[in-house]
Amino acid sequence: MHRRPGDPATVARHRIPEQGMDPLTAFHAVRDETMLDGNARLNLATFVTTWMEEEASELYREAFDKNMIDKDEYPQTAAIEQRCQRIIADLWHAPDPDAAPATSTVGSSEACMLAGIALKRRWQHRREAAGAEPARPNLVMSSAVQVCWEKFCNYFEVEPRYVPVSDEHPMLSGAALDAVVDEHTIGVVGILGVTYTGAYEPIAELAAALDAIERDRGLDIPIHVDAASGGMVAPFIQPELEWDFRLTRVASINTSGHKYGLVYPGLGWVVWRDAAALPESMIFRVSYLGGETPTLALNFSRPGAQVLLQFYLFLRLGREGYAEVQSESQRIAVHLSSAIGAMPAFELVSDGTTIPVFAWRLRAEHTDNWTLFDLSDRLRMRGWLVPAYPMPDNLAEQIVQRIVVRNGLTMDLADALLDAIREETAYLESLTSPLPHPTAHPAFSH
Ligand SMILES: Cc1ncc(COP(=O)(O)O)c(C=O)c1O
Repeated sequence: MHRRPGDPATVARHRIPEQGMDPLTAFHAVRDETMLDGNARLNLATFVTTWMEEEASELYREAFDKNMIDKDEYPQTAAIEQRCQRIIADLWHAPDPDAAPATSTVGSSEACMLAGIALKRRWQHRREAAGAEPARPNLVMSSAVQVCWEKFCNYFEVEPRYVPVSDEHPMLSGAALDAVVDEHTIGVVGILGVTYTGAYEPIAELAAALDAIERDRGLDIPIHVDAASGGMVAPFIQPELEWDFRLTRVASINTSGHKYGLVYPGLGWVVWRDAAALPESMIFRVSYLGGETPTLALNFSRPGAQVLLQFYLFLRLGREGYAEVQSESQRIAVHLSSAIGAMPAFELVSDGTTIPVFAWRLRAEHTDNWTLFDLSDRLRMRGWLVPAYPMPDNLAEQIVQRIVVRNGLTMDLADALLDAIREETAYLESLTSPLPHPTAHPAFSH
């Protein structure tokens, strides 16, 4: 019998119970409930790692009690964090990777907040030095930015200047900048791997446009590259693409260690070009080996294990291994996108040739009987999580569906997914009248 003598028939849910229970009972209560969650490997909505090899899991189990902030108590973990920072600064062509300020974070969101604060502070210092009031800062970016930039602008009181995406201009372009920047612009965000589609914004073109603006109008506006996903893809499979510190206008870059860095959830990185790009006033000191070490982070306590996993992967895979993993994911993404693009109901919005992420939509006027939300629901019944969602702002009437291919989605699994998409699409295509849509679909959270 699953329930043992003395076990409660149900467990308290919303208030702490008066008495505790046997550890095995508590264990089963929690585990049984989480069986209802989706299967992480079949979750094609997330960018975040859902598979690591057994050695990594063992390292994780051994290190889950390490707090990243306790640098004095865990000096080797702190040293490994610094090594990772240098490795990443080097991958992104920092002029001096050993001197580029950097930190690990809990994810790209925290990394973006820190980079945004640095942009704002630098702008304030420059305004003050010029005797101008440091008021009404704005940040220029495409309307397809990830929600963390909306949060940054909201929490740190910066006006977001969104350049709307449209069918003709699906991402931020150099040509759009002159009309939106002014002396209150703290920076421009370029995205390497747009969350909605996987597309790379043309960072070199943005940099050239800002160079021209500096020449013509005297405005020196830095770029932050939000490379949450592309930052750990481009260095390995598009090494010729110039998007990073090779462009002098790029002041800072973030990535998610837990996306294409291939580490389990809870890790981001941010690197600044050089000390001049990061105001000294943002740095705090914590004790380390009898002295002090600089830190900058929004959180104090944070798991250290993911940092060890990142270093494990750098050693385990090397440049060659990362290139192999990312190009295999890309091969699978392109296999999926070309098969889906060939189905009469669909047209591709992107094809997975940047990061291994692509999106598609229903062909215009194809049918009124069903939507991509229905396809998403039907795939969910078969265990696959493939989200459908509206594009941002003025493209919001356009519904797209997206697949994120990650390490662990094998070609066999991809073919099983294609079978499911074909069968469920055939079912929907056989409908002779529209499906009822009684409730609005909840917004997909990017
Ligand atoms: C472009 C971009 N920036 C930032 C983020 C936020 O990253 P994190 O989930 O690591 O906080 C994401 C997440 O999908 C993203 O795609």
